[in-house]
Formats: sequence, C-alpha cells, structure tokens
Amino acid sequence: MAPYIGTATSRVDGRAKVTGAAKYAAEFNTPGLAHGSVVTSTIAKGRIARIDTREALRVPGVIAVLTHENRPRMAGSDRAYMDDVAPGGSPFRPLYDDKIMFSGQPIALVLAEDSETARFAASLVSVAYDEKAHVTDLFQRRDKAKEIQRPSKPRGRADKAFAAAEVRHQGEYFIPMEHHNPMELFASTVTWDGDGKLTVYDKTQGVQNVQRYVCSVFDRKPDEVRVISPFVGGAFGSGLRPQYNVALAVMAARALERSVRLVLTRQQMYGLGYRPATIERVALGAKAGGTLDAITHEAIAMTSQYEDFARNDTAWADMLYKCANTKYTHRLAPLDLCSPSDMRAPGATTGVYALECAMDELAVALKLDPLELRLRNYSDREQNEDIPFTSKKLRECYRQGAEAFGWDKRNPEPRTMRDGGELVGWGMATGIWEALQMPIAVRIVVTANGHAEVACATSDIGTGTYTIMAQVAADMLGLPLDSISIKLGDSALPRSPVEGGSWIAASVSNAIATTSQAIRNELLRLAKKVPASPLVDAKPQDVALADGKIVSRWDAARAVSIADAMRQGGVDRIEQEKSASFPDDDKHARNTHSAIFAEVKVDEQLGVVRVTRIVSAVAAGRILNTKTARNQIMGSMVWGIGMALHEETLVDHKFGRVMNANIAEYHVPVNADVHDIEVIFVDEPDDIVNPLGVKGVGEIGIVGVAAAIANAIYHATGKRIRDLPITLDKLQE
Ligand code: MOS
Repeated sequence: MAPYIGTATSRVDGRAKVTGAAKYAAEFNTPGLAHGSVVTSTIAKGRIARIDTREALRVPGVIAVLTHENRPRMAGSDRAYMDDVAPGGSPFRPLYDDKIMFSGQPIALVLAEDSETARFAASLVSVAYDEKAHVTDLFQRRDKAKEIQRPSKPRGRADKAFAAAEVRHQGEYFIPMEHHNPMELFASTVTWDGDGKLTVYDKTQGVQNVQRYVCSVFDRKPDEVRVISPFVGGAFGSGLRPQYNVALAVMAARALERSVRLVLTRQQMYGLGYRPATIERVALGAKAGGTLDAITHEAIAMTSQYEDFARNDTAWADMLYKCANTKYTHRLAPLDLCSPSDMRAPGATTGVYALECAMDELAVALKLDPLELRLRNYSDREQNEDIPFTSKKLRECYRQGAEAFGWDKRNPEPRTMRDGGELVGWGMATGIWEALQMPIAVRIVVTANGHAEVACATSDIGTGTYTIMAQVAADMLGLPLDSISIKLGDSALPRSPVEGGSWIAASVSNAIATTSQAIRNELLRLAKKVPASPLVDAKPQDVALADGKIVSRWDAARAVSIADAMRQGGVDRIEQEKSASFPDDDKHARNTHSAIFAEVKVDEQLGVVRVTRIVSAVAAGRILNTKTARNQIMGSMVWGIGMALHEETLVDHKFGRVMNANIAEYHVPVNADVHDIEVIFVDEPDDIVNPLGVKGVGEIGIVGVAAAIANAIYHATGKRIRDLPITLDKLQE
C-alpha cells in the first residue's frame, strides 16, 4: 500500500460539502426554535440613555427583547470573559451595561418565532444615547500611541549605524483596516436540552474555547455545555475567539428556556474584529556593496479602548537578514472601535509587507538586483537569540522561484518592459511565518473489521484538517484511507487548542503518530498470543502496521493480521488516547519561508493594474497533502492580490462607523483579477521540528505577496506607492 502522506489526496469531506450534507452552525434544526436578531449601536462612544422596545414587542410573533436592563444574569468580572486567546485588557461583555464602546456594538436582541419577524422587529427598537466624542482615525492618534513590550531586544546601535551608512532608505508604509469576510456568517444554534443543559452549534475555530467561555460567563459546568462545529465556512482568524453571537444565543436560550438560533448579518460581521490598520516605518542602512548595517522597524497599530491587541510586525528581519544593528518598536493607539483580531498571518502580513518593500527600495538605491540584495544578507541564524533554524530552505525558494518565473530576464530599469500598450513590472519579496505546535490529544478506536475512528476536538476551518488527519492515520495504522473516519469539531472529544497560527497540521499529525504507536503496541501484545505467532519475540520498535497487518520491519513474511490478533485476544475494539506535547526547544528557531515573484501589467492611461503572474516557492517542512497545501497557498496568494490592490475597510470618522460593511463595497479579488498562480513546494526535510517534520501552511502563503506586487508596480511605472491598497487614483497622482 503506497503511503498517503505527501500525496495530492482529495478532501475526504469534499462530497459532504458539495452536496450540502455538511452542516454549518445555522443549519442544525431542532423543534421549537426561536430566532434572534441583533440591534446594534449607531454611535461609537457614550451611553444608552433610553431603550424603547415596546413597539418591537407589539409585533405578532415577537417573544422577547433582551437588553442590558432585563437580560438574565451573567458573570460580572472581566476575567470571566477571557477566552483562551484573549489579548490583554478587558474583554467586551455583550449586553452587559449601558456603555457604548464602538459603533455596531450589540445593544439588544429581539427574539421571535421566525427570523424575518425578529429582524423586522429589531428595526423598531428605538434608542436614545448620551453621546461622547469619539476618535476612530489612527492618524489622529499616532503621536499618542503607547509603546508596548518590544518583540525583540535591540542589537548594536541601529540609529548610529543608520546615520553612518553609505546607502540609506527610510520609508513609511500603511496597511489599512481589513476584514476577513468568510462566506459563512457568524451564527449559533443553541438547543435547550432541559435541566439547563445546552448543545451549542457555533461557527468557531475552537469548540473547547467556546465551551470554556460559555461555562465561565454563564456559570455552567463543562458537562452542561457541549459545543459542536463540524464544518466552518471560512474564518481566517475571525473565529478564534468566541464571538458575541454565541454569548447572546446562550443568554436567550437561558432566558426563554427554549432553543434559539442567531445569525449575524453581513453588515454585523464588520463589528467583530479585523486586521488593524498599521503605520510601518522602516529604515535600512547598508554598505555600498549591499550588506546591511542597520535595520529599524517601528509599527504603530490601532486597537480598541478595552483591549491591547498586538502581534509581531517588526522583528521578522531577525530571521531573514544578517545585520548587527537592529531596533524594533511596536506602539498601540486605542480607538473607539471594536478590538482587532487575528487575521491570516497576523503581524507578518503587515510588517513583512513594509520590510520587503523597503528592501526593494534599498536595492534601487544600491543599484542592485533585489534578489541579489536578499542573498547578500541571507541569515542562517535567528539573530536575536543567535540560534540556528530547525530547517531553512529559503535559499532554495529564491532559486526555484526565480527560475520558474524567469527572473534573470528582468531588465532592472523601471518602465523598460512593455506588452503592447501596457507597462510590465516584475517584483519579488520574501515571506516568513512561524512553525508552531501545541499540545493536543487524539483518540483512536480500531475495530476488528479493520476500521479506525480518529477523534480530536480540533476544527477544520476549510483548510483540509479532516483529510490530513485521515492520511496520517491511514499510513500510521496501515489501513486504506476509506477505512478511517475522522471526528472533530466537538467539545466532548479529546483536548485541542483553537485551530489557528498554522499549528494544527503539525500538532495533530504528530499526536496521531503517537496514538497509533500505542495502538500498534496493543496489537503486538495480542498478536503474540496467536498460536505459533511469528512475532512472539518482536519488540514494539520491531514492528509496523501495514496492509491491515502487524508486520516485522525486518522480515515482511513475519506478520499477523489485525483481525486475527484481535480475535485471538478476544477483543473487538482497541482504544487509545494519547497527547502529543512538544518540548520547549530554545536551541532552534522554527519558521516557514517563501519567495514570491509577481508580474503586473499596468494600463498607464487608466491606471488599471492586473497581476498577470505570481510564483510562490514555499519551504514548510514535510507537506502532508500537496493538493490541500497548494489550495492554502493559492488562496493566500489571491488574498495577497486583494491586499495589494483592493481591500480596505473605510471608516467614516465623523460617525466612527464602517462605511463599506458589505462585500459589494469591500472589494476582494474576483475571478477576473486572478490570473496565473504557481505554487512550488521546496523539499525541506526537518527531523528537529517534530517527529514527522511538519510545519504547517495555513498562513505562510499570504506573507510577502502584497510587497512583491507593490514592488512590481514600481518596476512597471517608476511610481512607489507605499499606502495599500494601490488603487488607480494613487497611480494617477
Ligand atoms: Mo489564523 S489568523 O491563526 O486563523
């Protein structure tokens, strides 16, 4: 039987998804369901002076309207609302009191017999506010932004080295606020199971995180709340934390002692978290030959008034470029908006955009090929701790990416390459992300009919987790793929962290390997009992599971079938549950890397930019599934096109409110915007990072893409646009 790991295996949940059999949070039905609709604040800051629900309550079919004045009891302390991945500060407490902290804040929940009635009645709730002055513009607060703990300690004397450098570049880059816009709306269906017990179908990246949150906020015991989320229609980080819909739906079920469904509207999805707008200032100093002497990187990002959300924007150069003098600073400006949240490769997507555009500008100042500049400064060590990487095949990414793209045919002079009436530009950039892994548990049950069930409370947010789990289990247990069934997305299953940070593939696959070994050991124990067993002297490390048998590694003829072993042992099932934990290894840095090459064509008269080709060469350890991994990278690259050219959440600062809270006016790439995309996986064996050598590919794909495109636009036009997105008006200025 050929191994499944490393192949382009199609999604095991594909059929369920395309036939509609896969159920999402708002699709679970139960008799007697009440439907909720949220009323949100129209001001950004102040207090609710009066809230009048009488007219809404008069609508036939309306059951109740919950507000801060009549809601059931919920926890009082901030701490009770802290979920597993909450940033510092005081989490938002929905319907807690009369205080308004952002426009779009939920202030009432209308409950009715059907969702249309609830939504109509919600429009009849009238609210009077005591309004206070708000600030939602990062540029208005940039000078007051407070410094937070540095992501990496300064090395050398960056300011002095910059002043003394032979060639310098400094620039300020801007990434606007962006939203995740997953297809599936945030929704919760809560079934009232009697005796205060609840089953919560929720859109989330972490069922156990939501379970703990609900138990903490509503003072329930873990066995009274079960959270289920078998399928997630995209989340990209927006579902890492419990969202207010789940708190409101549970609150309503408790108030009515009845099952409740709450689905947010697309507009309300813009009041839940976002990629924070960030101002990035980068200064690079180099010798005339192109070696770096100084790097300073300062990020000024927005957060809410109640939480300090920050990710590492600035210290990525420590992993990429050799330099003796570096300084990184991160500042936060609190604004009257809801808290930002993680969004694919948080921190790196924004920070590396700035760093990689700045490197391109330095290359221009040095009259040096931008790829050559990266190679001259290539670092084989993480410099902050001065440690090697578990593996780093970035040089190979540069080489294979450049070759596939045809980089050596680039004329370095801007505005020299044309295709008919269009200017052609070629740009490149580097991408980097972390190879994280988290403690996680897996349960495997093997039955005598040769079937295995593999269970873990992780999620599959569309990334292919079901499929890679099945592949790894099939190989480790020596069973065909269709003899494996996967259970996930249920808080009752073995412990899992939230699915995020690109850490689930590495974590869960190693846990499956560990648990499979326990299954193998148990099977070997039984196989020894078979009369005249050929494995009677075998030790666990002497055998493997293959083709439905326990087989000697040294002599394939010495084997006992799993069915025989189990029959002989008198058991019809074997169950094992094991955790994978990953020892703290402070002797190595763990990262994934990529090199991105982009081609743009620019119609100068209209300013229209088309990204006609992108090649991304990725080094991310062992690739478990070349099809789903390629999907991840490709999706990320499409998102990088959106980041470069289309995406921005626009806030009307007069009202402190998002203006384009819909996918008609919040632009994302469509088919016509996406042309040739090539993904290369560079071979990167790694026996240090974890036993299977897996690093994860959920996030690396987006990092650097917008920089490669911005650099290509400069090469095409000679115009350097540092503010994203690069819309045609900016190119016409
Ligand atoms: Mo990812 S932003 O950790 O879902």
